[in-house]
Amino acid sequence: MSRLVIVANRVPNPKERGATAGGLAVALQDAVTQREAMWFGWSGQTAESTAERPTEVVQGRLTYATLDLGRQDYTRYYQGFANGVLWPTLHYRLGLARFQREDYVGYRGVNAAFAAALAPLLRPDDLVWTHDFHLFPFGRELRRLGCTQRQGFFLHVPFPPYGLFLALPRAEELLADLAAYDVIGVQTEDDAINLRHALEAVGQGEAAARVAAFPVGIDADAFRRLAERALTRAETRRFHQSLVGRALVMGVDRLDYTKGLPQRFAGYAQLLARFTAHRGRATYLQVTPVSRGDVAQYRSLRRELDEWAGRINGQYAEPDWVPLRYMTRPVQRPVLAGFMRLARVGLVTPLRDGMNLVAKEYVAAQDPADPGVLVLSRFAGASPAMPGSVLVNPLDPDEIAESLDAALSMPREERVARWQANHDAVWGASARAWSRSFLSALEG
Ligand code: G6P
Repeated sequence: MSRLVIVANRVPNPKERGATAGGLAVALQDAVTQREAMWFGWSGQTAESTAERPTEVVQGRLTYATLDLGRQDYTRYYQGFANGVLWPTLHYRLGLARFQREDYVGYRGVNAAFAAALAPLLRPDDLVWTHDFHLFPFGRELRRLGCTQRQGFFLHVPFPPYGLFLALPRAEELLADLAAYDVIGVQTEDDAINLRHALEAVGQGEAAARVAAFPVGIDADAFRRLAERALTRAETRRFHQSLVGRALVMGVDRLDYTKGLPQRFAGYAQLLARFTAHRGRATYLQVTPVSRGDVAQYRSLRRELDEWAGRINGQYAEPDWVPLRYMTRPVQRPVLAGFMRLARVGLVTPLRDGMNLVAKEYVAAQDPADPGVLVLSRFAGASPAMPGSVLVNPLDPDEIAESLDAALSMPREERVARWQANHDAVWGASARAWSRSFLSALEG
């Protein structure tokens, strides 16, 4: 079996395996245990200038090869173009993009430097699998260096309608970059349609035929076990006691403007204003670890959420009841899994999301005999496959309030039926199936 080389901006920390690892690392767990593998990408550290040779850490058949980013490259490639321009554009928020020519040049430069650092490490029959929007040009840069290996690309975030994407300066060049890959994977059929249109519109029709949807999933049994085991942890017990029998509503998201958090907080405020029976009977826990905190749009969002949390609690709290518990510190996955199992409502309302694995994890964490209800945005990639959810338009706080009221009041039989309707989407579309189907397409 040929070696798998995984290229991603974020490389997991070799010390953090299993339960503490991030989403992509969990999703690729199966792939890297099946064959010899290498993870290649950014170390997460900055230095004076971008390293030319990676630092390697070998763990059995898996090698981690990472590079420090120069400070100016970090600003231009990561903050400037990847997170300041591509992230908002791909999430349909062109108005938030701040294009600057030097950021784009920095982005291409880092992709070329990464390719130059990987090329000498490649073996002729390696499979190279590149991930996400940070690395559109990477495959073409490898080709320029004479690398002929099979190369696949997977976009974890949405791809917007082509007219929107083509408004981005240099869109044509970025689409020509994608055309260098042998397989181009996206999360949903809608993303595939949008990307094919965009490729066709710039004369890359031949690459459009190589676009396919591979919806990413989770290891549902492992997450269910994590949630069950968490019930015996001291943190879970203390948290459970602190609820004093109140129904728990729970959200877990990176602090990001795509997640619809101000609208979600407004929706909860509407619930308390309009459906007064829930006052004092529900508690909402929102766990929102700070993300990309040095990008301007993220800082202003954080202030906005601080204000919302203060306003909701100021207006509705009782001496013995805090309506909204809002945390910006990260919480360990096993602890979160236990909290999710306790939650009567999982509240997942991104304005746009590639897939959203929290929605799937929430379903996996439930007790099948007495499950909670998933309130889910229509605009999450996960939503078409999860018919048991209460679907909402995340832009409408009143609709969020009405859905929360319905979910909190729902009888057990309906909750069980809805949970079962979501079961297949969570257990059927596993992380393993995702990586296996992509890799079999890549092996050709
Ligand atoms: C999203 C992206 C990933 C990214 C992650 C965390 O899930 O699709 O590529 O790694 O957010 O963001 P960060 O900027 O901290 O890597």
